[in-house]
Amino acid sequence: MNQRAPVETTFESISPAEFFYRNRQLAGFGNTSQAIYSAVRELVENSLDSCDDAQRLPLIEVQVMSEGGDIIRVCVSDNGTGVPDAHVPQAFAKILYGSKFHNRQRRGTFGLGVTMAVLYGQITTDSPVLVHTKCPDSQGMEYALFIDVETNQPIIESSCSRDRDSDGTSVTLRLRGDLKRAQERILEYLRLTTISTPQAQFLLKTDNAESITFGRWSNSVPSPILTSNPHPRAADLELLRRLAQHNGDKRLQDFLVDSFQKVGTKTSGRFLKFVGFNPTRKVNTLTRDDLSRISSALRKFDGFESPDHKSLSPIGEEDFLVGIRSVFNISSHYYSDRGPSEWQGNPFIIEGVLATGDDFPRSDIPTLYRFANRVPLLYDSSEDVLTKTLKRVNWERYSVDSSVPAALFLHLCSTRVPYKAAGKQSIDTIPEIEAEVVSLLRDLGRRLGRTMRKSEKSLREGKKMREYAKSFRHLAKFGAELAGVDEVPDTNRLVKQLFEVSLDE
Ligand SMILES: Nc1ncnc2c1ncn2[C@@H]1O[C@H](COP(=O)(O)OP(=O)(O)OP(=O)(O)O)[C@@H](O)[C@H]1O
Ligand SMILES: [Mg+2]
Repeated sequence: MNQRAPVETTFESISPAEFFYRNRQLAGFGNTSQAIYSAVRELVENSLDSCDDAQRLPLIEVQVMSEGGDIIRVCVSDNGTGVPDAHVPQAFAKILYGSKFHNRQRRGTFGLGVTMAVLYGQITTDSPVLVHTKCPDSQGMEYALFIDVETNQPIIESSCSRDRDSDGTSVTLRLRGDLKRAQERILEYLRLTTISTPQAQFLLKTDNAESITFGRWSNSVPSPILTSNPHPRAADLELLRRLAQHNGDKRLQDFLVDSFQKVGTKTSGRFLKFVGFNPTRKVNTLTRDDLSRISSALRKFDGFESPDHKSLSPIGEEDFLVGIRSVFNISSHYYSDRGPSEWQGNPFIIEGVLATGDDFPRSDIPTLYRFANRVPLLYDSSEDVLTKTLKRVNWERYSVDSSVPAALFLHLCSTRVPYKAAGKQSIDTIPEIEAEVVSLLRDLGRRLGRTMRKSEKSLREGKKMREYAKSFRHLAKFGAELAGVDEVPDTNRLVKQLFEVSLDE
């Protein structure tokens, strides 16, 4: 009998760069047309975040040029904060490095986006990323960087001072991809971005078209988005352990007040009574078991206020409508919002506009445009909680059927958007979010339905009025003939009076 040799098992670890090199599709770099789109999207997202930080109206130039064959050069320039010299190599050439791991709404989340684009460029064209950046205290620096995939460390190919007129960053990449297929998506993405960030202006240059300008529809810079401490209900054991490690000397009561939002001395006292701990006990005397008890009690205690929403930045009714009206022809619109609510201690707001207009297709359900933290989501729509919830609503009840050209614009903003994958394209089904979306959709549906019914009623009344007017005219003519008078009495006033009465009833 043939005996198979045992397969030798070897163990090794891989760097985050190696992981994403092997699993590019998880971050939206799975195929050649999506890769170009994702690269543009990640660069634009970073530019917009940076303009938020600088509290400046974003002015962003996007160039997507073919360099022959399938080699594409992508360059995005902004007027944001610039990147401090000491951080440039890591920010652009080390996976999972970034400045956005704080508790506030940002477009960027993972410290992955631009580095994925750099990695993709590097493996498809063997070209470095070029970063030209200037902060308020520098003249400007230019770097050419590669990622060492095995160690996840930046390789500085070159660096030198280079003047830049004003603060901001320009990032240039060369990558292989299908520009023809990506182009439509890029246009759509920029157009929709001017709805969720109507303060932004984009200048798009491609090699086969004239430069196109998109936006700016609003000149009001949104208020700064503030960072806040985590909400106590967001404190799982790991977070609590970490916070405790940095605050060992504190008394338990002060530790809770200092580490979490919405916890004052009184609330902290009530909570510690609820969980049975002495408020004066030192944090560094807590065992792992104690921390575990505190962590689960933090999630059960119902005496905490809802999470703070100063760390959120919804678009708001005025800006949302300005953006939609600037991009689409609309004939009616309804805005509504829900929240601030929370999921696992993370605050969120969901806002939406239901609009009708001839730019939208006629269908049984409104066409959906999804946005998360002011970013339009164009891929993986069927997986998304917003799409699933939209389909669950009975739109016929609200008089939306295939005769009505309607669209729904939904924006979810949160300090933590529960994306399904690192590519940030679809939102997971979280019961608290789903419930608020259902309530929002019903409200918008009811409001549209009311108007539709009113206009149907007035159409019906108009038809009836015209029929009455015709019959009255005949009767009046007949009466005049019978009475032998030449002048036929005017019956229009009579009909109007009759309908005023019937409409008031
Ligand atoms: N145009 C820019 N202006 C200022 N800072 C930037 C710019 N581009 C990148 N950065 C810095 O580089 C970091 C890494 O960017 P990257 O896109 O990889 O991650 P992120 O934006 O933090 O999160 P995400 O993975 O969700 O995009 C950012 O956190 C930011 O600090
Ligand atoms: Mg980013």
